[in-house]
Amino acid sequence: MSLQAEYGLGVSELCAMSKRGEKIACLTAYDASFAQVLDQAGVDIILVGDSLGMVIQGHDSTVSVSMEDMIYHSACVSSISKRALILVDMPFMSYSNIEQALFNATRLMQEGGAQMVKLEATERQSEVVAEMSACGIPVCAHLGLRPQYIHKLGGYQRQGQDSESAEQILQDAISLEKAGADLLLVECITHTLAAKIQQTVSIPVIGIGAGKNCDGQILVLQDILGITPGKTPSFAKNYLNEGGIQAAVQAYIAEVKSGDFPS
Ligand code: KIV
Repeated sequence: MSLQAEYGLGVSELCAMSKRGEKIACLTAYDASFAQVLDQAGVDIILVGDSLGMVIQGHDSTVSVSMEDMIYHSACVSSISKRALILVDMPFMSYSNIEQALFNATRLMQEGGAQMVKLEATERQSEVVAEMSACGIPVCAHLGLRPQYIHKLGGYQRQGQDSESAEQILQDAISLEKAGADLLLVECITHTLAAKIQQTVSIPVIGIGAGKNCDGQILVLQDILGITPGKTPSFAKNYLNEGGIQAAVQAYIAEVKSGDFPS
């Protein structure tokens, strides 16, 4: 058995995919049943997102999600997944300084089975990312629209629309890569900015509501199944019309790989 088969996809395989132009297909999951469907369908990254605050717990933001919630749902997902990389969100205020970030990321890896952790970041988090990376914790930096900042933002608007804020997000991306981030996730930024980031950094860039020019795409599972409680984001697409959940996931993967999603 190869190491890749034993441990599933790792950082180096994701980089290799992006270098050969193979799109990386990612979805969220929060439990073992859906994690198995996604893993067997060939999803490359399963994100245990703090979006569970909305789609599992029914809140209107991710702010109330706790470390215990994240560990519980990560353990459910990681217990069953064999191939996909398990990416887990660090919840609101769980990485506000280096010591706290290291402690909580360790819990997500040891108790939750995370293989990479994600934090919502600007260049201000570079030191935290650098320390985590130096300790052997794979890190994904989530840029652009950062849902944990909802009460500062006042709404889920597209980010980087003027040249100054676009330049700031690009600089954030550069700083976070330099600090040691292994992956970037860009949410709800202009398509031109996403393309610029993708051309500038050498680590893979995953997009959500950020256009086609990313190394991969991610959506919330409930959004592609059309079962989101409340409002579904405008950039999401319902794949359940394709004939069942497995077929819906496979249709999504096929469109990400071929570049047909997003259109
Ligand atoms: O929590 C989540 O599901 C996310 C995605 C929206 C990317 O961060």
